[in-house]
Amino acid sequence: MGFLKLTISSLIALVLISCSIAEGFPGSGFGYYSGLTPEFYQYSCPQANEIIMSVLENAIAEDSRMAASLLRLHFHDCFVLGCDASVLLDDSSTIVSEKNSGPNKNSLRGFEVIDEIKAKLEQVCPHTVSCADILALAARDSTVLSGGPHWEVPLGRRDSRVASLSKSNTNIPAPNSTIQALITQFKRQGLGLEDLVALSGGHTIGVARCVTFRQRLYNQNGNNQPDVTLERNYYNDLKTVCPQNGGDNNISPLDLSTPVRFDNRYFKLLLWGKGLLNSDEVLVTGDVKQTADLVRRYAEDGSLFFFQFAKSMVRMGNISPLVGANGEVRKDCRKIN
Ligand code: HEM
Ligand SMILES: *[C@@H]1O[C@H](CO)[C@@H](O)[C@H](O)[C@H]1NC(C)=O
Repeated sequence: MGFLKLTISSLIALVLISCSIAEGFPGSGFGYYSGLTPEFYQYSCPQANEIIMSVLENAIAEDSRMAASLLRLHFHDCFVLGCDASVLLDDSSTIVSEKNSGPNKNSLRGFEVIDEIKAKLEQVCPHTVSCADILALAARDSTVLSGGPHWEVPLGRRDSRVASLSKSNTNIPAPNSTIQALITQFKRQGLGLEDLVALSGGHTIGVARCVTFRQRLYNQNGNNQPDVTLERNYYNDLKTVCPQNGGDNNISPLDLSTPVRFDNRYFKLLLWGKGLLNSDEVLVTGDVKQTADLVRRYAEDGSLFFFQFAKSMVRMGNISPLVGANGEVRKDCRKIN
């Protein structure tokens, strides 16, 4: 009986340990065991990196914004059920697609590029490279091709058989978020203030639609007044792009001075009152000293930003991956096998 008790309790301990391994420890930074490893496809698909890079080079040469769109796609994947390519699933009889959520609809781009990568990989190493890993590698390569840092991407994620429209609506922060809301939503994913500030630096490339920043121009606090933290000339320019009524889909760069270059200019702009989204500017103006200090440090030191961005991208990429026998490797990123 005593023996049986011992066996049962060690079994429970084992299950607990393997569960936490499978989920990873997103808050704990470099060098911990997430179940993922950069060498995952070393023997099964050594050409994977090269294939992804060559598709991206062409796609970004054709459309410079594509780098930004692919970086964002990985973020929107990881914040909903973990980095499991749930964001790529189309509507079907069993799937309610995340593509129709508030943050994603008429906004997420790059699905065709992921399809092209997947098709090429299926020819060379069929049924091997997961869509979730393609998203992680495409985000890294898009950063590199835009002039940003390089990092080793831990690999071995598997693809989900489910999606969550509701989590896509609740987990992805809104552009009018307060600093407290941003901190809370990142914390829920196991990410800290350093991750929040560094990863917001992803807004050094790409654009946003008028609907995402209109509130700041015309009615920031429900009093029909603009956001007083907006620099005056920038505010006037934004009003011509984004009228009070109409023009919802008019776009403006998130980093107005170097919109397709991955650099630390985004942080300098925040210090000058020239951040596009409320969620950008509140990193400095939102009464949280740590985030404001981090913005100042990254504005001063581009290589510190690059170092922390790479570190935080690995952390974000480690959010609840499906590993081992969980999930599947999709043949078509848009549908379950
Ligand atoms: C901190 C909370 C965040 C909020 C509130 C936020 C919000 C937004 C919004 C509203 C847009 C414009 C979408 C549109 O108008 O269609 C956008 C674009 C973008 N976001 Fe974020 N974002 C956040 C964090 C991140 C993170 C962590 C990354 C990646 C590391 C990222 C990367 C991007 C990129 C690259 C674009 C431009 C996409 C394109 O041009 O296609 N964002 N974000
Ligand atoms: C953000 O915008 C949404 C939708 O327009 C609105 O319901 C919400 O109250 C806004 N939040 C803040 C903090 O202004």
